[in-house]
Amino acid sequence: MKIFIDTADIEEIKTAISWGIVDGITTNPTLIKKALQKYRDRISSMEDYIKEILRIAGRLRPVSLEVISTDREKMVKEATILYEKFNYIANNVVVKIPINPNLGEGNDFDGIMAVRELKSAGIPVNVTLVMTPEQALLAAKAGAEYVSPFVGRVDDFLRTKVGMEFKKEDYFPSDGMEYDDEVINDNGIVSGVHMLSIIKEIFENYRFSTKIIAASVRNARQVREILEVGCDIATIPFYVLKDMIKHVKTEEGMINFVRDVENEYKEIFWKGE
Ligand code: E4P
Repeated sequence: MKIFIDTADIEEIKTAISWGIVDGITTNPTLIKKALQKYRDRISSMEDYIKEILRIAGRLRPVSLEVISTDREKMVKEATILYEKFNYIANNVVVKIPINPNLGEGNDFDGIMAVRELKSAGIPVNVTLVMTPEQALLAAKAGAEYVSPFVGRVDDFLRTKVGMEFKKEDYFPSDGMEYDDEVINDNGIVSGVHMLSIIKEIFENYRFSTKIIAASVRNARQVREILEVGCDIATIPFYVLKDMIKHVKTEEGMINFVRDVENEYKEIFWKGE
Protein backbone atom coordinates (compact mmCIF):
# COMPACT_ATOMS: atom_id res chain seq x y z
CA MET A 1 0.00 0.00 0.00
CA LYS A 2 1.39 3.39 -0.99
CA ILE A 3 0.90 6.81 0.49
CA PHE A 4 0.98 9.84 -1.78
CA ILE A 5 0.81 13.39 -0.46
CA ASP A 6 -1.96 15.51 -1.96
CA THR A 7 -0.37 18.95 -2.10
CA ALA A 8 1.68 21.37 -4.20
CA ASP A 9 3.13 23.02 -1.11
CA ILE A 10 6.87 22.50 -1.32
CA GLU A 11 7.46 22.74 2.43
CA GLU A 12 4.74 20.15 3.11
CA ILE A 13 6.26 17.90 0.45
CA LYS A 14 9.78 18.23 1.91
CA THR A 15 8.57 17.61 5.46
CA ALA A 16 6.42 14.59 4.60
CA ILE A 17 9.20 13.06 2.49
CA SER A 18 11.63 13.54 5.40
CA TRP A 19 9.29 11.38 7.52
CA GLY A 20 10.10 8.50 5.17
CA ILE A 21 6.52 7.45 4.42
CA VAL A 22 5.70 9.21 1.15
CA ASP A 23 5.66 7.29 -2.15
CA GLY A 24 4.35 9.97 -4.52
CA ILE A 25 2.70 13.36 -4.93
CA THR A 26 -0.56 14.54 -6.48
CA THR A 27 -1.30 18.13 -7.45
CA ASN A 28 -4.17 19.89 -9.17
CA PRO A 29 -4.78 23.50 -10.28
CA THR A 30 -6.41 24.38 -6.93
CA LEU A 31 -3.44 23.03 -4.95
CA ILE A 32 -1.03 24.92 -7.23
CA LYS A 33 -3.08 28.09 -6.65
CA LYS A 34 -2.83 27.62 -2.87
CA ALA A 35 0.94 27.14 -3.09
CA LEU A 36 1.28 30.24 -5.29
CA GLN A 37 -0.71 32.29 -2.80
CA LYS A 38 1.50 31.11 0.05
CA TYR A 39 4.89 31.43 -1.67
CA ARG A 40 4.21 34.23 -4.18
CA ASP A 41 7.26 36.17 -2.99
CA ARG A 42 9.56 33.21 -3.26
CA ILE A 43 8.34 31.66 -6.54
CA SER A 44 10.16 33.39 -9.38
CA SER A 45 8.91 31.02 -12.06
CA MET A 46 6.23 28.34 -11.99
CA GLU A 47 8.41 26.10 -14.13
CA ASP A 48 11.28 26.26 -11.65
CA TYR A 49 8.90 25.62 -8.76
CA ILE A 50 7.55 22.47 -10.43
CA LYS A 51 11.07 21.34 -11.30
CA GLU A 52 12.02 21.69 -7.64
CA ILE A 53 9.06 19.54 -6.59
CA LEU A 54 10.06 16.89 -9.14
CA ARG A 55 13.67 16.92 -7.92
CA ILE A 56 12.61 16.60 -4.28
CA ALA A 57 10.28 13.73 -5.20
CA GLY A 58 13.05 11.92 -7.05
CA ARG A 59 12.90 9.03 -9.49
CA LEU A 60 10.92 6.68 -7.29
CA ARG A 61 8.00 8.98 -6.48
CA PRO A 62 5.51 9.76 -9.26
CA VAL A 63 4.21 13.35 -9.35
CA SER A 64 0.82 14.05 -10.94
CA LEU A 65 0.48 17.34 -12.84
CA GLU A 66 -2.87 18.30 -14.34
CA VAL A 67 -3.78 19.68 -17.78
CA ILE A 68 -5.91 22.82 -17.97
CA SER A 69 -7.97 22.54 -21.17
CA THR A 70 -11.26 20.80 -21.79
CA ASP A 71 -10.96 19.42 -25.30
CA ARG A 72 -9.09 16.35 -26.44
CA GLU A 73 -6.62 17.99 -28.76
CA LYS A 74 -5.56 20.68 -26.31
CA MET A 75 -5.36 18.26 -23.38
CA VAL A 76 -3.10 15.94 -25.38
CA LYS A 77 -0.95 18.93 -26.36
CA GLU A 78 -0.70 20.12 -22.75
CA ALA A 79 0.03 16.62 -21.48
CA THR A 80 2.84 16.37 -24.01
CA ILE A 81 4.19 19.78 -22.97
CA LEU A 82 4.16 18.76 -19.29
CA TYR A 83 5.89 15.51 -20.09
CA GLU A 84 8.52 16.99 -22.39
CA LYS A 85 9.24 20.02 -20.20
CA PHE A 86 9.48 18.17 -16.93
CA ASN A 87 9.88 14.42 -17.17
CA TYR A 88 13.64 14.55 -17.88
CA ILE A 89 14.19 16.00 -14.38
CA ALA A 90 13.48 12.78 -12.49
CA ASN A 91 11.47 10.57 -14.84
CA ASN A 92 8.48 10.82 -12.50
CA VAL A 93 5.80 12.87 -14.31
CA VAL A 94 2.27 11.52 -14.50
CA VAL A 95 -0.30 13.61 -16.33
CA LYS A 96 -3.71 14.14 -14.80
CA ILE A 97 -6.67 14.11 -17.18
CA PRO A 98 -10.26 14.70 -16.00
CA ILE A 99 -12.63 11.81 -16.66
CA ASN A 100 -15.16 14.16 -18.25
CA PRO A 101 -13.91 17.68 -19.00
CA ASN A 102 -17.16 18.78 -20.66
CA LEU A 103 -18.27 22.16 -19.29
CA GLY A 104 -21.48 22.23 -21.29
CA GLU A 105 -20.75 22.48 -24.98
CA GLY A 106 -17.95 19.96 -25.37
CA ASN A 107 -17.71 16.22 -25.69
CA ASP A 108 -18.14 14.03 -22.61
CA PHE A 109 -15.58 11.56 -23.99
CA ASP A 110 -12.74 13.99 -24.75
CA GLY A 111 -10.95 12.95 -21.55
CA ILE A 112 -11.21 9.27 -22.39
CA MET A 113 -9.97 9.86 -25.94
CA ALA A 114 -7.05 11.87 -24.60
CA VAL A 115 -6.15 9.03 -22.21
CA ARG A 116 -6.14 6.55 -25.08
CA GLU A 117 -3.88 8.79 -27.19
CA LEU A 118 -1.48 9.45 -24.34
CA LYS A 119 -1.32 5.76 -23.55
CA SER A 120 -0.21 5.12 -27.14
CA ALA A 121 2.39 7.88 -26.80
CA GLY A 122 3.77 6.25 -23.64
CA ILE A 123 2.74 9.08 -21.31
CA PRO A 124 1.36 7.77 -17.99
CA VAL A 125 -2.03 9.18 -17.03
CA ASN A 126 -3.88 9.60 -13.75
CA VAL A 127 -7.60 10.01 -14.48
CA THR A 128 -9.05 12.49 -12.04
CA LEU A 129 -12.48 13.64 -10.79
CA VAL A 130 -13.79 10.07 -10.75
CA MET A 131 -17.05 9.88 -8.77
CA THR A 132 -18.53 6.54 -9.91
CA PRO A 133 -17.41 2.96 -10.64
CA GLU A 134 -18.66 3.39 -14.21
CA GLN A 135 -16.28 6.31 -14.79
CA ALA A 136 -13.44 4.29 -13.28
CA LEU A 137 -14.17 1.41 -15.66
CA LEU A 138 -14.04 3.74 -18.69
CA ALA A 139 -10.73 5.20 -17.51
CA ALA A 140 -9.24 1.72 -17.10
CA LYS A 141 -10.51 0.63 -20.52
CA ALA A 142 -8.85 3.69 -22.08
CA GLY A 143 -5.51 2.62 -20.60
CA ALA A 144 -5.10 4.86 -17.55
CA GLU A 145 -2.11 4.04 -15.36
CA TYR A 146 -3.97 5.42 -12.33
CA VAL A 147 -7.56 6.29 -11.53
CA SER A 148 -8.45 8.73 -8.74
CA PRO A 149 -11.87 8.23 -7.14
CA PHE A 150 -12.73 11.29 -5.02
CA VAL A 151 -13.89 9.69 -1.79
CA GLY A 152 -14.43 12.89 0.20
CA ARG A 153 -16.26 14.74 -2.54
CA VAL A 154 -18.70 11.85 -2.98
CA ASP A 155 -19.41 12.08 0.75
CA ASP A 156 -19.81 15.87 0.41
CA PHE A 157 -22.30 15.28 -2.40
CA LEU A 158 -24.33 12.85 -0.30
CA ARG A 159 -24.28 15.24 2.67
CA THR A 160 -25.44 18.10 0.48
CA LYS A 161 -28.41 16.01 -0.62
CA VAL A 162 -29.78 16.23 2.90
CA GLY A 163 -28.57 19.74 3.58
CA MET A 164 -25.75 18.73 5.92
CA GLU A 165 -22.79 21.05 6.26
CA PHE A 166 -19.32 19.58 5.85
CA LYS A 167 -16.64 19.82 8.52
CA LYS A 168 -13.19 18.28 7.95
CA GLU A 169 -13.43 16.06 11.00
CA ASP A 170 -16.81 14.72 9.88
CA TYR A 171 -16.88 11.04 9.33
CA PHE A 172 -19.25 9.51 6.81
CA PRO A 173 -19.67 5.77 7.48
CA SER A 174 -18.71 3.52 4.59
CA ASP A 175 -21.89 1.48 4.94
CA GLY A 176 -24.01 4.56 4.43
CA MET A 177 -25.74 7.08 6.64
CA GLU A 178 -29.36 6.99 7.63
CA TYR A 179 -31.41 10.10 7.39
CA ASP A 180 -35.08 10.01 8.29
CA ASP A 181 -34.99 6.19 8.07
CA GLU A 182 -33.52 6.17 4.57
CA VAL A 183 -29.94 5.47 3.63
CA ILE A 184 -28.64 8.45 1.68
CA ASN A 185 -27.35 7.24 -1.66
CA ASP A 186 -26.49 8.33 -5.15
CA ASN A 187 -27.62 5.65 -7.54
CA GLY A 188 -26.77 2.93 -5.02
CA ILE A 189 -23.52 4.50 -3.82
CA VAL A 190 -23.84 5.13 -0.08
CA SER A 191 -20.41 6.66 0.61
CA GLY A 192 -17.10 7.54 -1.03
CA VAL A 193 -15.46 4.47 0.46
CA HIS A 194 -18.34 2.32 -0.82
CA MET A 195 -17.65 3.65 -4.34
CA LEU A 196 -13.98 2.76 -3.86
CA SER A 197 -14.76 -0.81 -2.82
CA ILE A 198 -16.91 -1.35 -5.92
CA ILE A 199 -14.13 -0.02 -8.18
CA LYS A 200 -11.66 -2.37 -6.48
CA GLU A 201 -13.98 -5.32 -7.09
CA ILE A 202 -14.53 -4.43 -10.75
CA PHE A 203 -10.80 -4.04 -11.40
CA GLU A 204 -10.14 -7.39 -9.76
CA ASN A 205 -12.99 -9.12 -11.62
CA TYR A 206 -11.60 -8.05 -14.97
CA ARG A 207 -7.91 -7.96 -14.05
CA PHE A 208 -7.31 -4.32 -14.95
CA SER A 209 -3.78 -3.22 -14.13
CA THR A 210 -4.91 0.39 -13.53
CA LYS A 211 -3.94 1.40 -9.99
CA ILE A 212 -6.52 2.98 -7.71
CA ILE A 213 -5.56 6.18 -5.90
CA ALA A 214 -8.11 6.96 -3.18
CA ALA A 215 -8.31 10.76 -3.42
CA SER A 216 -10.09 13.66 -1.74
CA VAL A 217 -9.34 12.26 1.70
CA ARG A 218 -10.77 14.23 4.61
CA ASN A 219 -9.69 12.60 7.87
CA ALA A 220 -7.74 9.77 9.52
CA ARG A 221 -10.79 7.58 10.04
CA GLN A 222 -11.46 7.72 6.32
CA VAL A 223 -7.86 6.65 5.65
CA ARG A 224 -8.47 3.55 7.79
CA GLU A 225 -11.56 2.63 5.79
CA ILE A 226 -9.62 3.11 2.56
CA LEU A 227 -6.97 0.70 3.91
CA GLU A 228 -9.67 -1.83 4.72
CA VAL A 229 -10.86 -1.70 1.12
CA GLY A 230 -7.30 -2.58 0.13
CA CYS A 231 -6.75 -0.11 -2.67
CA ASP A 232 -3.27 0.48 -4.08
CA ILE A 233 -2.66 4.08 -3.04
CA ALA A 234 -4.20 6.81 -0.89
CA THR A 235 -3.29 10.41 -1.62
CA ILE A 236 -3.51 12.18 1.70
CA PRO A 237 -3.39 15.91 2.58
CA PHE A 238 -0.66 17.07 4.94
CA TYR A 239 -3.07 17.89 7.79
CA VAL A 240 -4.55 14.38 7.67
CA LEU A 241 -1.08 12.78 7.73
CA LYS A 242 -0.30 14.87 10.83
CA ASP A 243 -3.54 13.75 12.49
CA MET A 244 -2.77 10.09 11.81
CA ILE A 245 0.21 10.07 14.17
CA LYS A 246 -1.64 11.48 17.16
CA HIS A 247 -3.40 9.96 20.15
CA VAL A 248 -3.95 11.52 23.53
CA LYS A 249 -2.91 8.31 25.35
CA THR A 250 0.33 8.14 23.31
CA GLU A 251 1.12 11.67 24.44
CA GLU A 252 0.23 10.85 28.04
CA GLY A 253 2.31 7.65 27.86
CA MET A 254 5.34 9.60 26.61
CA ILE A 255 5.07 12.11 29.47
CA ASN A 256 5.06 9.22 31.96
CA PHE A 257 7.94 7.32 30.34
CA VAL A 258 10.14 10.43 30.28
CA ARG A 259 9.25 11.23 33.92
CA ASP A 260 9.97 7.68 35.13
CA VAL A 261 13.49 7.29 33.73
CA GLU A 262 15.76 6.40 36.69
CA ASN A 263 19.42 7.44 36.84
CA GLU A 264 20.60 3.80 36.88
CA TYR A 265 18.89 3.30 33.55
CA LYS A 266 20.15 6.62 32.18
CA GLU A 267 23.74 5.57 32.96
CA ILE A 268 23.57 2.88 30.27
CA PHE A 269 23.41 5.64 27.73
CA TRP A 270 26.15 7.73 29.31
CA LYS A 271 28.74 4.96 29.14
CA GLY A 272 31.07 5.38 26.25
CA GLU A 273 30.24 9.06 25.79
C1 E4P B 1 -6.64 14.22 -6.22
O1 E4P B 1 -5.60 13.90 -6.77
C2 E4P B 1 -7.02 15.61 -5.87
O2 E4P B 1 -5.87 16.41 -5.84
C3 E4P B 1 -7.61 15.75 -4.51
O3 E4P B 1 -7.60 14.58 -3.77
C4 E4P B 1 -8.82 16.60 -4.43
O4 E4P B 1 -9.35 16.57 -3.14
P1 E4P B 1 -10.29 17.66 -2.49
O5 E4P B 1 -11.69 17.19 -2.62
O6 E4P B 1 -9.86 17.71 -1.07
O7 E4P B 1 -10.04 18.97 -3.21
